[in-house]
Amino acid sequence: MEIKINPKYPSVTDLRKRAMVKMPKFAFEYLDGGCNEDINLDKNRTDLQKIELMPQYLSKFDKSNLKTELFGHTYDAPFGIAPVGLQGLMWPNSPEILAKAAFNHNIPFILSTVTTSSIERVAELTEGKSWFQLYHPAEEKVKRDLLDRAAHAGTDVLVILADVPTFGYRPRDVRNGLAMPPSMSIKNILEVFKKPDWAIQTLIHGQPAFKTMEKYMPKGLNLKKLGEFMDATFSGRLNEDRIASIRDQWKGKLVIKGVVNEIDAQKAINLGVDGLIVSNHGGRQLDAGQSSIVPMTHLAKKYKNDIKIMVDSGLRGGPDIARAMANGAEFTFMGRSFMYGVGALGKEGGNHTISLMKREFQQVMEQLCCENVTDLPKHLIVN
Ligand SMILES: Cc1cc2nc3c(=O)[nH]c(=O)nc-3n(C[C@H](O)[C@H](O)[C@H](O)COP(=O)(O)O)c2cc1C
Repeated sequence: MEIKINPKYPSVTDLRKRAMVKMPKFAFEYLDGGCNEDINLDKNRTDLQKIELMPQYLSKFDKSNLKTELFGHTYDAPFGIAPVGLQGLMWPNSPEILAKAAFNHNIPFILSTVTTSSIERVAELTEGKSWFQLYHPAEEKVKRDLLDRAAHAGTDVLVILADVPTFGYRPRDVRNGLAMPPSMSIKNILEVFKKPDWAIQTLIHGQPAFKTMEKYMPKGLNLKKLGEFMDATFSGRLNEDRIASIRDQWKGKLVIKGVVNEIDAQKAINLGVDGLIVSNHGGRQLDAGQSSIVPMTHLAKKYKNDIKIMVDSGLRGGPDIARAMANGAEFTFMGRSFMYGVGALGKEGGNHTISLMKREFQQVMEQLCCENVTDLPKHLIVN
């Protein structure tokens, strides 16, 4: 896929600024914010920025190859698009835009259970190459059906989420009257009138809806009832029995997202899980928690021979991908960066942001004189 970057937005910082102008305030703040006082959100960035890499200018060097093996597939680069809920509310049609761009660039796209496109639609756009993230439903038959649908759609990798035992406390969303699920106040509706592109795109693509979940919802729910339905459906906390039962049913690769310590990692390994995405949900759940790069580094050292260790939370470009990989991650994911891209540039945003990441990461690899992504740990400066 051709690398195509709009020169007006050469970084995620530029995309974020533009997205802030284009998106309604309640939607931008839902995307951008962390929880409580944003301490964990900031810590993800500052801990990553502390990581330093060492170039080896005089070493024998041919060229850098970004290709990365994961779960039997060779991806074009070691990064993918993390699952994000309610995407169509932030930018209409955004899950479809990102899924297609990820497919064209041969990187993984993870579909969230609670986003605004369906398992089937995304499978069609990506020839079954996307991954599916399951929010664990309380009802066994809903869970079984979701897993059957994902398998039937050709999904190879299932990601189950561990780090939302309760919804994060996010002051911006409380102020904006935006919760899970959304409720539209007069203030928010007025905000929409100030964002004509967003409003037109919403008219074209229709009101965002939980497309994957629609089939289980009673017809004609008002917002309040929809809220009650979603709360009741996803009251299910993940535990070992539930993971064991999914492991039994799911024949493909199984990944747990949100594990941040040895005790849980060891349990996951014992249960036959294939990979972990070490994540703190982008600083949206536990403000008093660690950054994700710190536990990832520890878990990668200890368990890299037992399970694939991946990471997300706080990565914003090529240098961050390289930092995470040098610290032992086998793959990385980003959530907000790609959504800023679509918020800023609409349907061009997927291709633009993936191109940007590839270009930045390629430059870092060449600057370090690093030929393969698996060699990045040799460039880590250990103090
Ligand atoms: C607006 C928003 C919604 C999210 N929704 C989900 C979700 O539905 N499922 C999920 O597993 N993670 C969700 N996440 C977490 C992301 O998958 C990912 O862990 C996080 O965005 C990584 O941090 P980053 O945004 O700094 O890259 C969400 C994140 C954001 C920003």
